[in-house]
Amino acid sequence: MTDLTLADAGVDAPPADADDGVWLTCIECGWTGAPFEEVRYRCPDCDGLLEVRYADHPTFADFEGRGVWRYADALPFATGVSIEEGDTPLYSVPTIESEVGVEDLRIKHEGMNPTGSFKDRGMTVGVRVAERLGVGRLACASTGNTSAALACYGARADTPVLVLLPAGKVAAGKVAQASLHGARILEVDGNFDACLDIVADLAKRGEAYLLNSLNPFRLEGQKTIGLEIVEQFRDQTGDLPDRIVLPVGNAGNTAALFKAFRELVAAGALDVEQVPKLTGVQAEGAAPMVEAVAEGREEVRRWEDVETRATAIRIGNPVNAPKALPGIRETGGTAVAVSDEAITDAQRALAEDGVGVEPASAASVAGLRKLRESGEIDADEQVVCLTTGHLLKDPDAAATAGAKPEAVPADTEGVLDHLAEN
Ligand code: F0G
Repeated sequence: MTDLTLADAGVDAPPADADDGVWLTCIECGWTGAPFEEVRYRCPDCDGLLEVRYADHPTFADFEGRGVWRYADALPFATGVSIEEGDTPLYSVPTIESEVGVEDLRIKHEGMNPTGSFKDRGMTVGVRVAERLGVGRLACASTGNTSAALACYGARADTPVLVLLPAGKVAAGKVAQASLHGARILEVDGNFDACLDIVADLAKRGEAYLLNSLNPFRLEGQKTIGLEIVEQFRDQTGDLPDRIVLPVGNAGNTAALFKAFRELVAAGALDVEQVPKLTGVQAEGAAPMVEAVAEGREEVRRWEDVETRATAIRIGNPVNAPKALPGIRETGGTAVAVSDEAITDAQRALAEDGVGVEPASAASVAGLRKLRESGEIDADEQVVCLTTGHLLKDPDAAATAGAKPEAVPADTEGVLDHLAEN
């Protein structure tokens, strides 16, 4: 049981070994330690998840510049290994908004980051920390996007990258990115959770620096999604969203958004009642978080067999659940599972409004639709759906969901005949 609450962001006095007002703490037992003296992913006392803590919390007036590093005052460093990540669009989608029937619907399209997913926000911070720690190799397990981002940021930092992927279950665009950016790619005969078990073991043995979302610094970068949503939504509407709906795999974003809002509350920039309800969506074939929320449990039960066409969230053991479950509960949110068919329908609907996303991303809109139908989301709500990855990440899924090309002869008359006949 953690003490992660909206009313208390953990703004305790810094421990003696804090580094410039930054330290690590265990969310389970309260252990604290220096952030950059040793490589740590879990609590040395109880194996709990670690969180980055700060002596000071900035408010909106403190932010300047663009992208992730606009929020440097809320991050462990002032600059990072950057290729201009963040600053992604917040789109209105009038067709889906009126079809679903909510007061306001916007799409925060994280697919517009440099490598086409939100992972870039975590990597710009995580790879900076790796530089500080002086590690020789970076590694991750991945359903695809993490590997694409790490390969790119590792290349930028001139540090070798090792990625472990579940064989045959990663979308083509993502493997292509990891490959061209020069990562060493190992295809594991097992699912993502098995890949993460292995790479966490390699990291523990000192073989590489782990940059999965188990790494608390990555979530610091991803926190900026929440800060940007608040600023953009306010700019566009003069208000704050009531709810943020997001796809859930390892539950890193859910944890990161919760942390962003806890820190805004601690800074006095938001009241507890103003914090949007965090609402997680999983695919029916990989929904251990939804199960835990439905049963009111503090821990998830690992699903050994997972399957969904939204391969990015084909995950049975969400490692950040201990951080994310309190986030859903504390903000008054919920979690819901959606079918693969509903995901593809939502992907088409987004495309019709001009927003091209990969299947996992469309889960957020599919979840919104389902919760509106069941009445759990009200018609007067202002909602932001997070779309996490770009359409081109999974070209096969897009082509299957979209219109089929039609064969025509190579002359104008033939083309005109074809158009007239069909
Ligand atoms: N959406 C996309 C497109 C993703 O790639 C992921 C995670 C998620 C959602 C889930 O986010 O883990 O924060 O709940 N992809 C990881 C990867 C696991 O390896 O690329 P989460």
